[in-house]
Amino acid sequence: MKLNIAIIYGSVRSDRQGVRSVNFFLKKLSERGVDTEFIDPIKFPLPLLDKMYKEYNPEKAPVNMRKISEILTKADGFLIITGEYNHSIPSALKNLLDHFQGEYFFKPSAIVSYSAGNYAGVRSAVHLRAILGELGTPSISSMFPIAQIQKAFDNDGNALNDIYEKRSKRFLDELIWYTQALKKAREKGVPY
Ligand SMILES: Cc1cc2nc3c(=O)[nH]c(=O)nc-3n(C[C@H](O)[C@H](O)[C@H](O)COP(=O)(O)O)c2cc1C
Repeated sequence: MKLNIAIIYGSVRSDRQGVRSVNFFLKKLSERGVDTEFIDPIKFPLPLLDKMYKEYNPEKAPVNMRKISEILTKADGFLIITGEYNHSIPSALKNLLDHFQGEYFFKPSAIVSYSAGNYAGVRSAVHLRAILGELGTPSISSMFPIAQIQKAFDNDGNALNDIYEKRSKRFLDELIWYTQALKKAREKGVPY
């Protein structure tokens, strides 16, 4: 079964580091034959939330909002990659997530967190898990925390430590399992 997974990343800093892990996961997913899309808030800038996408007439919605909605709708699952800003998720990530709603429903998500230090963004991951549940894209049990992101991958997303190769196998096995299972289930219908 062909799957499509959208990677959502939330940093718009000019010196952002987390994009290294985006490149790593784009490669790992494509090695498994999964189609991917990268929702980069720098490439698709959104205003601070005024109206959600669903509140617009689609023909009058801002073009980036429409493009993101199309990518989310096509996706069967989501990989959310979050840094940690003051123990929570970056505001650009929250702003992006909040613009959409039905696009997420009955699809799984998985959380990658990272930070410059040794705590690997786990506090933001815990906040993100609650947000994703509310959005209708419950997150899988495994998480993928990355300490010292600046030393973990090169700019092209090659892991600089074998541990990330090993951990990513089990993590993506689980995400793909849920993504396939829920895709099959959605084909038979959804509760609402
Ligand atoms: C506004 C701000 C708040 C931060 N707060 C935390 C924090 O609470 N915990 C932490 O481990 N690192 C924190 N950091 C450091 C980040 O882990 C580090 O800058 C990381 O590279 C940010 O991700 P990005 O480069 O993809 O934007 C913070 C950085 C910024 C810019």
